[in-house]
Amino acid sequence: MTIAPVSARPAVQALESSLIRVVANAGMGRTDVLPFWFGESDQPTAPFIREAAIASLSAGETFYSQNMGRPYLREALSRYLGDLHGVPVDAGRIAAVGSGVNALMLAAQTIISPGNRVVAVTPLWPNITEIPKILGADVVRVPLAVANGKWSLDLDRLLAALTPGTRMVIINSPNNPTGWTIEDEQVEAVLAHCRKHGIWVLSDDAYERLVHDPSRKVAPSFLARYQPGDRIVSANTFSKAWTMTGWRAGWLVVPPELSADLGKIIEYNTSCLFEPVQRAATVALQQGEPEVAKLRAQLTATRHLLVGELRALPGVVVPEAGGAMYVFFRIEGQDDTLTLATRLVEEAGLGLAPGGAFGPEGAGWLRWCHATSPEKLRDGAGRLQRFLGA
Ligand SMILES: Cc1ncc(COP(=O)(O)O)c(C=O)c1O
Repeated sequence: MTIAPVSARPAVQALESSLIRVVANAGMGRTDVLPFWFGESDQPTAPFIREAAIASLSAGETFYSQNMGRPYLREALSRYLGDLHGVPVDAGRIAAVGSGVNALMLAAQTIISPGNRVVAVTPLWPNITEIPKILGADVVRVPLAVANGKWSLDLDRLLAALTPGTRMVIINSPNNPTGWTIEDEQVEAVLAHCRKHGIWVLSDDAYERLVHDPSRKVAPSFLARYQPGDRIVSANTFSKAWTMTGWRAGWLVVPPELSADLGKIIEYNTSCLFEPVQRAATVALQQGEPEVAKLRAQLTATRHLLVGELRALPGVVVPEAGGAMYVFFRIEGQDDTLTLATRLVEEAGLGLAPGGAFGPEGAGWLRWCHATSPEKLRDGAGRLQRFLGA
């Protein structure tokens, strides 16, 4: 009998490795590189949030807790989401989980079977499209395009891709990497179509608070339109709006019909969240609104600054976007942005993410995270200008 070589299963072997990491590995540890490649603020979490975790640790809260999260955190999430969206979100539908990416994996494990058709609006943070593939799904991509200088969704194209029998559509708005933000009418249209065909909506709401439109408190939302019987799941995270990337804390909102099964899936993944993290997350929800507002104002200002700097360079194209923390741009004549991003690190000390990291639609583009100071952004834009001029 021949025994197969030692290897992971085929679906895992077939996963893409992150092209952001490929570029970042070329410059990590180098103090002369300005790192704008990852999606996070360069500031640590606010002191009052950190102190809540320290107090919990000092009090010896080091034990296992409930699969779905401590009741105090689920209640705090219920109040927060109710206030934000103006609709009741029962705590029984909410699970506090170990990050936004964990929320996506848990949602996928709960809903997706091998061979399912999953449709995603792209380009997209690669974790969102790779997770369904780990579970054996076929992922169909519906690309955004630039129309009238703005990232836009072709709604008819998306609805045509959502054929009867499609298991799930995944939408991340505001979108990483483009900043594209879905419109209210598009949410309504997608939801009506999904209701008709029994298609699950997995909404990745990681950036829902980080919108540039000053008249909005939150981006257009599927969760806000949930009606009993709907197949809507919202995945979210403390990482972005509360500057808590390293904590690994997020949450899921599911229909009540899914809560018990979700609890089982959590048991077999991580079982529960570390209690000091749950204490910190609770304080972030209860007292963190000024922090969210500060970050949002900073992101609107730094986006304005960076877009201005980039548009002043010859051949640089920067479409408009509604939110998140990225500028997604291209440079005419520079189509191989993986090589370009590597050269920028090595020769200019400028760390950007290559657009191809977000799928084939992103090839030829670059992503620049602007959750940092005006000084660093100006320094980075100057480095790009000198590199392009050389
Ligand atoms: C669209 C999107 N969703 C989810 C996440 C997950 O964040 P985390 O796993 O840090 O909670 C990210 C992180 O970059 C993201 O960009």
